Amino acid sequence: MSKKPLILGIESSCDETAASIITENEKGVPTILSNIISSQIDVHKEFGGVVPELAARTHIEKIDLITKKAIDKSGVKIEDIDAVAATAGPGLIVCLSVGLSFGKAIAYSINKPFIAVNHLEGHALSPKLNTKLNYPYLLLLISGGHTQFLSVSGLGKYKRLGTTIDDAVGEAFDKTAKMLGIEFPGGPQIEVYAKKGDSNRYELPKPILHKGGCNLSFAGLKTAVLKITKQVKTEQDKYDLAASFQKTVEEILYQKSKVAFKEFKNFNNNKGDTFVVAGGVAANKKIREVLKNLCKEEKFNAIFPAINLCGDNAAMIALVGLEKFKLNQFNELDHPANPRWPLDKNAIFLKGSGVRL
Ligand code: KG4
Ligand code: ZN
Repeated sequence: MSKKPLILGIESSCDETAASIITENEKGVPTILSNIISSQIDVHKEFGGVVPELAARTHIEKIDLITKKAIDKSGVKIEDIDAVAATAGPGLIVCLSVGLSFGKAIAYSINKPFIAVNHLEGHALSPKLNTKLNYPYLLLLISGGHTQFLSVSGLGKYKRLGTTIDDAVGEAFDKTAKMLGIEFPGGPQIEVYAKKGDSNRYELPKPILHKGGCNLSFAGLKTAVLKITKQVKTEQDKYDLAASFQKTVEEILYQKSKVAFKEFKNFNNNKGDTFVVAGGVAANKKIREVLKNLCKEEKFNAIFPAINLCGDNAAMIALVGLEKFKLNQFNELDHPANPRWPLDKNAIFLKGSGVRL
């Protein structure tokens, strides 16, 4: 039996320093041998958000140790690793550069191929770490920096069907949390607050809900939350606003996914019935539930990454590395960090004022 590939993945695009070793079993199913994540919450807490310079410095301090831990925990020897995959973009350039350079250095020192990975492709494939996934599938990528519907027809084959024209949904969660005085990183706490609140208390806007196909918009929602926070006095008011916000996002994602299903079917000549929801916001249990129900109604298969693999991690980077390794898709050691690296390179940039839908 031939040796199964062992891939080291490294991730440092934002505020998580992460390293992972993965392989695959006899049936070709990816297997995580180790997945170490060091979060920088304590570093950025007092600033209420990620400070790029501090994030980069912290990556530099942690990357060796985190990678060593990932290798030790996996039980493999560094020289047995078959390729090193590191995130090359998109993300904060100062942060990307740390993991990218470190990954290249390891690849060079063990004389093995280097693979530059698109972080968004990591999220896109992440459910494969625990589920079988057939192409084509419709992907809703919901993270702190991105909100997009994409038709995925293979590794590196993406057609963007819709995108946010302003803020990402994760950003809206984070900003709402900040306006409610919830400590950084507040996004996930909105879900907790929402459970104690009345979701019908505040009427919030759902921008471009019935126009612009499956493009989305969250900036108006954020502004409306800001106006209401001025009247928020009690803890109960906060819970009610969090619940109203959470419900509004659920409704936007429900309606827009429904439109995306149609566009996906048209694009693929009616082929494909899998809906993958990935990225940090996919950890939101109510959003998962609402989108699962939509899939039942529309006869789609709902697939999510495991909750612990929704946020940034290096197992998903190693996974892209594994798939590229099997196709001999390697990169040179002078591969640049790329802060803006869309999955669909033909999609037009749809952000900012003047956007016409
Ligand atoms: O994918 P990710 O870890 O990093 C990026 O690539 O951006 O996503 C982080 C985003 C943050 O905006 C965070 O607030 C959001 O995911 N997030 C959540 C939840 N957990 C993380 N948003 C809503 N509900 C959650 N449970
Ligand atoms: Zn991410």
